[in-house]
Amino acid sequence: MTNFFMRALQSWRRRWWRPDPAALAAYAGLRPLVIVTGGSEGIGLELARQFALHGHDLLLIARRRELLDQAAARIKAETGVDVFVLALDLTSPGVVEAIDAVLAAHRAYADVVVNNAGIGLSGPFHELAPEDVQRLVDLNIAALTRLTRHYLPAMRTRGQGGILNVGSLGGYIPGPNQAVYYASKAYVQSLTEAVAAETAGEGVRVCALVPGPVDTKFHERMGAETAFYRTFIPPTSAQAVARAGYRGYRLGWRVTVPGLVNPFLALAMRILPHRIVIPIVGVLLQQRR
Ligand SMILES: NC(=O)c1ccc[n+]([C@@H]2O[C@H](COP(=O)([O-])OP(=O)(O)OC[C@H]3O[C@@H](n4cnc5c(N)ncnc54)[C@H](OP(=O)(O)O)[C@@H]3O)[C@@H](O)[C@H]2O)c1
Repeated sequence: MTNFFMRALQSWRRRWWRPDPAALAAYAGLRPLVIVTGGSEGIGLELARQFALHGHDLLLIARRRELLDQAAARIKAETGVDVFVLALDLTSPGVVEAIDAVLAAHRAYADVVVNNAGIGLSGPFHELAPEDVQRLVDLNIAALTRLTRHYLPAMRTRGQGGILNVGSLGGYIPGPNQAVYYASKAYVQSLTEAVAAETAGEGVRVCALVPGPVDTKFHERMGAETAFYRTFIPPTSAQAVARAGYRGYRLGWRVTVPGLVNPFLALAMRILPHRIVIPIVGVLLQQRR
């Protein structure tokens, strides 16, 4: 029943797609991989596990090799899929060339790209170190855009696969005290929904996963552990977020907001006047002294 439903869904998704035999031949004999950036821990690791549990081989990318190796060993033992790793800073030059070299070495292609790696920054904008601001823009915006632009055309040619971009509830509203992070996620969600509209009917899925606060080291890393939202908004587990994200991706939903309360928060952020919501968000994101 599920298979029938998924096949019908795929036919609908590919309603405008016409195969180009010459272009398709280039992928014959290659193995499809799911690339997960930031796949060594947190939400990325759980998303990688979800794809692996459904039989997909993986390429995990992050900077720290040791964590990548641990993640790969764990997923392989749990699911039996092949898991390759690439230790790479996604803000460095030559990122797509480095990933393409690994794909070529394993006779593989990028079937799905999960743009999950992201960092936050906490504090008033004018106090942030300029190099930290640049790093966030380079990772959350530039790297995600580059990978999406680089791998999407071949997905369209194949009429399958897709992009799963990890946004945030913060993308729906300006966030005083996390201004650059919130703005970066607004970009992610805008880009994703626009590209999803452009590619509708061509077989590819272009989806945004939009979580509220999640229980990972992310908040501590950006120095937001003492912010009010950490006390007042209970975090979801990375596993629950990843399960919802994978399901949303499979169904081709353009936006998945995991949880029961978060969809209502997302709606409220979009319909309430900014004059009311922004000050509330600003207080929640403020660090306690
Ligand atoms: N946690 C939340 O509450 C929350 C809520 C909404 C949305 N999100 C979004 O979800 C995504 C994942 O967040 P998370 O909570 O799982 O974060 P996390 O636990 O801090 O994990 C971040 C992952 O990204 C990798 N990474 C960081 N900088 C990188 C770089 N320059 N190049 C390559 N890899 C890099 C890290 O590995 P290395 O450090 O080894 O590179 C790690 O694997 C982010 O986009 C975040 O904005 C998080």
